[in-house]
Amino acid sequence: MCGIIGIVGTRPVQERLIDSLKRLEYRGYDSAGVAGVVDGHVERRRAKGKIRALEEVLAGEPLKASVGIGHTRWATHGEPSTRNAHPHASGRVTLVHNGIIENYAELREALKKKGRSFESETDSEVIAQLLDEELKTKPPLEALKATLDQLTGAYAIAVLIDGCDELIMGARRGSPLVVGYGDGEMFLGSDALAVGPFTNRIAYLEEGDYVAIDHKQAQIFDEAGNPVERPVRTVAASAALVEKGNYRHFMEKEIHDQPDACQHTLSAYIDPTTGRVHAPGRLDFAQYDRVQIVACGTASYAGQIARYFFERLAGLPCEVEVASEFRYRQPAVTKGTLAVAVSQSGETADTLAALRWCKAQGLTTAAVVNVHESTMAREADLLWPTHAGPEIGVASTKAFTSQVAALTALAVAAAAARGRIDTDEEARFTRLLLESPRLIAEATQVEEEIRALAPELARARDVLYLGRGAMYPLALEGALKLKEISYIHAEGYAAGELKHGPIALIDEETPIIVIAPTDALFDKTISNMSEVAARGGKVILITDEAGARNAPDGARVIVGPTCDPLLAPLVYAPPIQLMAYYVAVQKGADVDQPRNLAKSVTVE
Ligand code: G6P
Repeated sequence: MCGIIGIVGTRPVQERLIDSLKRLEYRGYDSAGVAGVVDGHVERRRAKGKIRALEEVLAGEPLKASVGIGHTRWATHGEPSTRNAHPHASGRVTLVHNGIIENYAELREALKKKGRSFESETDSEVIAQLLDEELKTKPPLEALKATLDQLTGAYAIAVLIDGCDELIMGARRGSPLVVGYGDGEMFLGSDALAVGPFTNRIAYLEEGDYVAIDHKQAQIFDEAGNPVERPVRTVAASAALVEKGNYRHFMEKEIHDQPDACQHTLSAYIDPTTGRVHAPGRLDFAQYDRVQIVACGTASYAGQIARYFFERLAGLPCEVEVASEFRYRQPAVTKGTLAVAVSQSGETADTLAALRWCKAQGLTTAAVVNVHESTMAREADLLWPTHAGPEIGVASTKAFTSQVAALTALAVAAAAARGRIDTDEEARFTRLLLESPRLIAEATQVEEEIRALAPELARARDVLYLGRGAMYPLALEGALKLKEISYIHAEGYAAGELKHGPIALIDEETPIIVIAPTDALFDKTISNMSEVAARGGKVILITDEAGARNAPDGARVIVGPTCDPLLAPLVYAPPIQLMAYYVAVQKGADVDQPRNLAKSVTVE
């Protein structure tokens, strides 16, 4: 959602605040701002738009502070503007906030009655005003606690107080906040990446915690106000992991990172010497009679792909639902259900709420997450990691294929545990899975052909994606990728559903992308394509060599690697990702930071 950084430094912090905000920009980029203590008083600089706009402001008016906070915003309450940009100031308080204060309207009215006036339309300013009110009668930490006690909703905050030159206070509930321990300097940040360039020693605040940092230490308190210790861990968010290297965009780099990402992920699940799969946490799948996957966006499509394998290989009924629906539906779950949350960030508010709901029902919960210190990772009974490394492009690519790889391995583990396959078959499946990094790399070789198609696709108003079986969720993901970064309207359909409505959309102007490597359903998909071609539709078929030989007349064919159907969702992901990527580049769109989106949506 929004990104937060705070530094109590011994030397100027402006450059470091900006460096950190650039790392956090994936969380939102509607506006940005910094504040710092200058000659005993807090000053702030803010700008609408991306960090570079803030840099321009700072070039004209530098912030000469060695203690400061920063924020990059994804707007929820109040339009993107300088006035609504963080930090928000009120009296002695200057504050940055990530989250949503649900009772802000009520609090705002009460504060107005006390004669206070508001500068912005945000919910966040209410926290600053409340805290300033409390500071009239209480010292800073007590005032902070009294303020937090009045808030309903989600927040991570970092606060400067005028007159307290070497203090930053912070708090978290629902939104993440970490404390970084440096050498004579201390940090607060939304995640390990935010403080990555400055320190790798990090403590994760727990729900309801609040904290005060100075040069040397962090005093942490739990929700009730008791001093607590939170373990300081050494994390591997090295600065180098978040560089673009020779690529033009993070998304392009991350598409090409996929062989490594999947290999690292699979090696956490597969023992290549025995050919066996181990579900981390040693879960016995035989004890469960149903899998319920909850996720949002791209992660939900990874879940939909996994459903085919949990059911087909393991005979384990599997349901997949978007978390925002699941959490409010009062679903009828049974005791033998294993709940699996799938999330790159491990912080998505709806997925986290769905996970917590399942836990409260007494279900065993597992989290397939890429950020291993995230809230979901810590709260689920089992952490099933993906090892994609930091994903910076807002449109998910390597996190998606890593989720598919992990879940496919887990489906094989479930099949073995439930006696549906013997150890020889298990070894055959794991051998296949271990071939996927090579095949994914081979699949990216279609890059030039796809780049050549981009100008034509970029002119389309609508694009349809078709697939059957596990290629159907991949068609949904292909359409989502195109929508997200190129702003072209796109829809994914199960190929067999075409004639029940979408076929009416087909004309010479609408490209139809068919994802159909050879499998048991290939002939049926070809029939669907012929229906499209007969109506003048422009078909682009993404298939393997055997499929290419059977392509209908007039279809443009992109030939990917030949692979087992188990691997097809992994191997055929790069071509559709590259398609979205090159169309967006062709249109001159902001590939890594598409409009209105945020990488991590930590509010409802
Ligand atoms: C946002 C991102 C998507 C992502 C979804 C779920 O909408 O833009 O790319 O798929 O959140 O995020 P998660 O971190 O839970 O996988």
